[in-house]
Amino acid sequence: MSQLAGIRACVFDAYGTIFDFASAAARCAEIPEDKRAALTSLWRDKQLQYTWLRSLQGRYADFWQVTGEALDFTLDSLGIATPALRERLMDLYRTLSAFPEVADTLRRLKEAGFVTAILSNGSPKMLDAAVRGAGLQTLLDAVLSADAVQVFKTHPRVYDYALQQLGVRADQVSFQSSNAWDAYAASAYGMRVVWCNRYGQRPERLPGTPDHEVKSLAELPSLLGPPG
Ligand code: 2OP
Repeated sequence: MSQLAGIRACVFDAYGTIFDFASAAARCAEIPEDKRAALTSLWRDKQLQYTWLRSLQGRYADFWQVTGEALDFTLDSLGIATPALRERLMDLYRTLSAFPEVADTLRRLKEAGFVTAILSNGSPKMLDAAVRGAGLQTLLDAVLSADAVQVFKTHPRVYDYALQQLGVRADQVSFQSSNAWDAYAASAYGMRVVWCNRYGQRPERLPGTPDHEVKSLAELPSLLGPPG
């Protein structure tokens, strides 16, 4: 397997890649176990759709609002909407669990001399709470939010923002996402991409070709040559 050469910065998507969005429903005792998977999947699907639709319409609202509105739709659809349940799930979303390999992978990358960063649709407050909750703050050089450019991925302005903030070229970035749509878009944009296909997604029929597909971020350090 050929290593990615000349990489300076390892940039990660947040939700689904670093943080396990299923952990909110999994930790919510009030939701019957047989409804947790449906809730997680509809909540996530609606949340993403709303980011894309709002971006197309030029009607940005931050990811916290979009996440809450997607949850309202979901609880309503499943017939379990109550203000208390909404508050509990939103609260749990603030401090999602990180996937088990994340801290060690970030540590290895930093020790090897790479810049590490998050690039996410999450609002700065959400990302700050999630990063601190998972104890990752010393392992990340930058936490970058699409909020700075008031549009969501996959708009190229979001990927531009990462390059500006990190002072690197697109081909000096290894971008990791578990979201196929995000991985393909970053590749079409010009970044090198490692698609962390945790969810066994099928390849997208969209522009872009991820350089590598892995099952866990633990595989990333060995895919990178020395920092450029
Ligand atoms: C992100 O963190 C939504 O997973 C997506 O940007």
